[in-house]
This record gives sequence, C-alpha cells and structure tokens, in this order.
Amino acid sequence: MLGRLNHVAIAVPDLAAASAVYRDTLGAKLSDPQALPDHGVTVVFVDLGNTKVELLEPLGDASPIAAFLAKNPAGGMHHLCYEVDDILAASDRLKADGARVLGDGEPKTGAHGKPVLFLHPKDFAGTLVELEQA
Ligand code: CO
Repeated sequence: MLGRLNHVAIAVPDLAAASAVYRDTLGAKLSDPQALPDHGVTVVFVDLGNTKVELLEPLGDASPIAAFLAKNPAGGMHHLCYEVDDILAASDRLKADGARVLGDGEPKTGAHGKPVLFLHPKDFAGTLVELEQA
C-alpha cells in the first residue's frame, strides 16, 4: 500500500525565518510561499530531489498547527507524508483495521492539488501520517 515518502513537514512559527535557514544556511531550493486557507497554513516546499521538506506556518485563527506550536514554540517535525496508489482503497483498508482517519474521514485536496488524508498519530507509532494520492 505504502509508496514513496512525499515530504516531511516541519511546523514553524516564522516561515520567512525558517525559509532563510533552508535557503541561505543549508543552500536548498525553495518554492514560493503558498497560502492554503482551507488547511489553515502557509507552506514553502524545500526540494531535495528524492523528497521534500514542507515548512508550515499557521494561517488564520483556527490553524490545525496552532496547538502544536503552542507546545513546540521553536517549531518541530509535524508529520510525514507517504504516497499511495489509491487513496480511497487505502482509507477503506485502514478504517477496516481500526485506524482513525482525522476530520470527516474523507480525502481533501492537499498542497499539490491531489487528494490527501491524515491518520491519527496514536495509531502510527506516535507520528501524524498524511497519505497523498500518487
Ligand atoms: Co503535508
């Protein structure tokens, strides 16, 4: 079921500062910031060739990463995103196995314009997992 690692997401309190670290200190290639109001975040992608790092900054009052940043004020690793060939089949299989799909349980359109869903960290070794349609 599981395909390649699409990205590692890092929640940050200051997207410009985190972008500068990746661009200037680490010499990485970055996308322009992209506001995703439906997801309550602004994202910058760091292109690593074999995968990406997604820098996430809260957007709006009800950002899903606000609580995480309250606990981790300097930022921190927020989730891993794995690709799957068929997100609806993956979702059905995981639900049948008792895994919890967050939100209303249905895929939403993610940052790459593809369907994504999030799985409860308590069901996956303490790590928030995002699945993205490959
Ligand atoms: Co993500």
